[in-house]
Amino acid sequence: MCGIVGYIGKNKAKSILVAGIKKLEYRGYDSSGLAVIEDGVILCKKAVGRISELEKVLDGNCDESNIGIIHTRWATHGAPTYKNAHPHVDCANKIALVHNGIIENYNYLKTKLQKNGHILKSETDTEVIVHFIESYYEGNLEDAVRNALKEIEGAYGLAIIHLDEPEKLVAARHGSPLIIGIGNEEYFVTSDVSAIIEYTKNVVYLDDGELVVLTKDSMKTTDIDSLPISKRIEEIQWDVNQVQKSGYEHFMLKEIYEQPQTLRDTMLGRFTTDNSVVRLGGLQDKCELLRSINRSVIVACGTSWHAGLIGEYMLEELMGMPVEVEYASEFRYRDPIIEKNTMIIAISQSGETADTLAAIREAKRKGAVVLAICNVVGSSIARESDCGIFLHAGPEIGVASTKAFTSQIVSLFLLTMHLRQISGKATDLDKELVKKLKEVPSQVQSIFNNDKKIKEISRIYKDSSNILYLGRGYNYPVALEGALKLKEISYIHAEGYPAAEMKHGPIALVDKNMPVVFIATKDATYSKILSNIEEIRARGGKVIAIASEGDSEISKMVEHVLYIPETVDALTPILSVIPLQLLSYHMAVMRGCDVDKPRNLAKSVTVE
Ligand code: F6R
Repeated sequence: MCGIVGYIGKNKAKSILVAGIKKLEYRGYDSSGLAVIEDGVILCKKAVGRISELEKVLDGNCDESNIGIIHTRWATHGAPTYKNAHPHVDCANKIALVHNGIIENYNYLKTKLQKNGHILKSETDTEVIVHFIESYYEGNLEDAVRNALKEIEGAYGLAIIHLDEPEKLVAARHGSPLIIGIGNEEYFVTSDVSAIIEYTKNVVYLDDGELVVLTKDSMKTTDIDSLPISKRIEEIQWDVNQVQKSGYEHFMLKEIYEQPQTLRDTMLGRFTTDNSVVRLGGLQDKCELLRSINRSVIVACGTSWHAGLIGEYMLEELMGMPVEVEYASEFRYRDPIIEKNTMIIAISQSGETADTLAAIREAKRKGAVVLAICNVVGSSIARESDCGIFLHAGPEIGVASTKAFTSQIVSLFLLTMHLRQISGKATDLDKELVKKLKEVPSQVQSIFNNDKKIKEISRIYKDSSNILYLGRGYNYPVALEGALKLKEISYIHAEGYPAAEMKHGPIALVDKNMPVVFIATKDATYSKILSNIEEIRARGGKVIAIASEGDSEISKMVEHVLYIPETVDALTPILSVIPLQLLSYHMAVMRGCDVDKPRNLAKSVTVE
């Protein structure tokens, strides 16, 4: 989690570092800190809480330096306190370091350092690194870093400065993303490009095991044994406006409202004009390989896992392919059965989720083909997979995933259509399905007309302690997603269940104080779900139904109805999730919660 920015160049470092780290605050925000070299010393300033607290401490300080590093923390080892905040410094206060990731053998290393007389002041795993660099330092920072890294087991993205080499910034990556931005007589280091696109769009993505030495006007990349590595400069496609709020109160709301556009972007250029062929650039030369696949395992976490469940239904219904959906964290520690023709589909917005990354590594080790569905180009998962589909949904900043979810569903649909096509299963139905898909963005737009009503319902139920979400078929994963969205940003306890499963336990919770959200669109399971609604009503539960436009019958059975347009079953989740995203957003805002930065959560979970 956490966020890193580093700067070296012709400009003053502080304002660049602070502006950059603010863009990463969504990644972790329990404490932050900055270090620069100024007036012949390392100046290190830290604060507990949001970055605004650090800004207060920095007011009038650290203004002159042209080199520095900054960090925003999401605690893993040690509480969010001043002494645990990064940067960490060595005993002599000459080296400062910021770190993303986890050092697994830090207890052992700490004892070793303490025996050698080092005084460690924090409870973090990170601090051992800076002391090892100190112990290896003989006048050359990069050599000392290299030697120190050989002691370390675990994941890191690091940026380091040394008082005796004020013209040099060293960065290294293993298992935690790190990107170098190339400016004019200046270089940037960051864990996420959104921190630096205001300054440059030219970047180099470091790979695991690489170390980079930056001066104002040079960049040298090597591996851990000093072997030079030549890197490709890539151009970022996102623009600055895409990472700003554009007048919305929160990123989450902006991202919910962006969906008609992001859905179009996910589809852009992916069909022939007569809708007969789905073209996926990332799978172009993989037809032979994909044709040989007879089983898929989808691995993902959280919201992406919910999209995976929808993908399972699609691939089964429209491709006849056996599919399993696994939590990446479980998959990686089992002994999963990967046969010759098994394909792993890894779904991840960030492309950096540690468990999903580890799952694909495990699958590759066992010989599986890995297809990634990712939003972030250049992310670790995108780069380590054999092929894939990018969402093209633009940066998702709000911690709660919204637009990525709907673009993931579209991508899974495109994948399903592509597989039908290359395996000779396409029929007249396919053109019709693509036509339906193309209608979805404007259908999403029309749902926003209900926002006033959604707000009213939110006001009625905002003080609830528990809410149940029920759905069947394609809408069962939507029930899970609705419940996750609500609990993560409003802290109301919510559970999602397949509606029929309710009778096997959860119905015991239902009384007049229990609001129940039913996703009851006119699909294959419609009549069944009406019976489930009756069961809740009979026990006094208050029902909010998401129903298909024109369904006047349902309004007689329930307290509130939110209508959505009709489409084919496989695409319904893109529409039915929209009112649920808005419902959780409004309830959270009404409860005074910080929806973009919910407590205890981070946008990109780069630790196990
Ligand atoms: C929920 C949410 C998380 C992520 C999960 C996976 O709103 O955002 O549950 O979906 O951490 O993240 P990615 O998709 O980046 O792998």
